[in-house]
Amino acid sequence: MLGIPPPVGYNPVTQETMTESLVTLQTSASAWELAEILADEIAGCLAEAVTAKGWGALVVSGGSTPEPLFRLLSRKKIAWPKISITLADERWVDISDSSSNEHLVRSLLLQNDAAAARFIGLKNSASTAASGEQECHEILSALPRPFDVVILGMGDDGHTASLFPGAVRLAEALDMKSGRNCLAVTPPDAPFDRMTLTLPTLLDSRQIILHITGGRKKKVLDRALAEDTSNEMPVRSILRQQRTPVRIFWAP
Ligand code: 6PG
Repeated sequence: MLGIPPPVGYNPVTQETMTESLVTLQTSASAWELAEILADEIAGCLAEAVTAKGWGALVVSGGSTPEPLFRLLSRKKIAWPKISITLADERWVDISDSSSNEHLVRSLLLQNDAAAARFIGLKNSASTAASGEQECHEILSALPRPFDVVILGMGDDGHTASLFPGAVRLAEALDMKSGRNCLAVTPPDAPFDRMTLTLPTLLDSRQIILHITGGRKKKVLDRALAEDTSNEMPVRSILRQQRTPVRIFWAP
């Protein structure tokens, strides 16, 4: 099965399709050019969704990679009031903290035209991620699904969203039958307790975009795509499933 075709007018520098999978890889000359291509792509997909069904739903990640993308996307002229945006994961810190993903999204994405979008954060008033999990699950249950686009990043250890290798609840977060939208997790080697969308929730999307930059991340990606059956890199559960198309966008 081939990955979903690129839209008309799309001009990637290269595009490869991994045989027998739903995964495609598109590369670009620079991180900025990649962000421009992605902003056009995501805005187009959300606009199509609004035309087709009257609403669109976007899931975004934190980290530093999406910063230029958020700035560019915020200026796209689409029907933002009809678009819901939530997070793939959140650090359990106050939303005014600069480590908060909600803070990042409010500062860079929910600006300009996109200020009119409906944002649903994952952080609530519970003192711990574990005690805030049920409320977060219920809020996510009320969101329209499937999502139109889920944007994920990837860490050097092969984590994605807050699905960290070695995390105590990783198996539960990857369980396709858990019935849970989100889980509270403690990363073994990264700061902050987190709330992460579970694998079944992340996959409940028309497409997943894996947005990564730099030579080091490319090596991590190559390792994740290699024929290795071990589950030590949680991003593999996104790359190796057969349900949702995954488009990897990479630039040096
Ligand atoms: C987070 C994330 C996380 C991120 C990767 C990549 O909040 O930390 O959602 O999964 O996407 O760690 O982060 P960078 O873009 O900073 O490399």
